[in-house]
Amino acid sequence: MAEQLRLDKLLADTGLWSRKEARELIRRGQVTVDGAVVRRPEAKVDPARSALTAAGQPVQWQKYTYIMLNKPVGVLTATEDRRQPTVLDLLPPELRRRELRPVGRLDKDTEGLLLLTDDGAMAHRLLSPKSHVDKVYCAETEGTVDEDDIAAFAAGMTLEDGLVCQSAGLERLGPGRCLVTLREGKFHQVKRMLAARGKPVRALKRLSMGPLALDSALAPGAWRPLTEEELRQLREEMDSCLRK
Ligand code: URA
Repeated sequence: MAEQLRLDKLLADTGLWSRKEARELIRRGQVTVDGAVVRRPEAKVDPARSALTAAGQPVQWQKYTYIMLNKPVGVLTATEDRRQPTVLDLLPPELRRRELRPVGRLDKDTEGLLLLTDDGAMAHRLLSPKSHVDKVYCAETEGTVDEDDIAAFAAGMTLEDGLVCQSAGLERLGPGRCLVTLREGKFHQVKRMLAARGKPVRALKRLSMGPLALDSALAPGAWRPLTEEELRQLREEMDSCLRK
């Protein structure tokens, strides 16, 4: 059966407007359904069958929400915490009401790309070790990585505490700066691998996850929905992983 949703909810579901903003847009006559202006926020629409525009732009409704966040330092990758701010606290109320979960975890003192979604299947696939999704980090270290460190990362490392790390990419960017590429996501992995090489991490930022790169226009703490193209690339990557 066709899914009928309230027009204001449908617009707010995109994450581009709050419910209140969506209602205002609709009442101002800035929203069309199949070419006709609709001024009732409570009007029921089947998003799969109707063409929508808002403020002159086509609106793509999606069943799930996908948010790119530039996680700032000092915020927990969690959905709730009694004492400390979490990544969900950075989102507006209409998005906080959804069942968004962070895909993977960044430490409190790590910043950068974090994907939040209510698409559990996509999250599961992105995190599965079978998917081999590359995660790229920029690290500032005490000391500068050298050829021996690069070779040790490439060979894979077993740390003193027994943690087995698969082959990883390491590239020197300049004095005290390097790029680390991991296919897995073990607890504090970048910090532990670099510390094991005598190059403790001073600051860490995730730049990308598979085909998804942190939007340089997002200041720390800022977010935006994924674009259609980003979603298409993510889905394509997941499909190609399954075929491998
Ligand atoms: N590796 C770390 O050490 N910390 C992170 O937050 C992510 C990867």
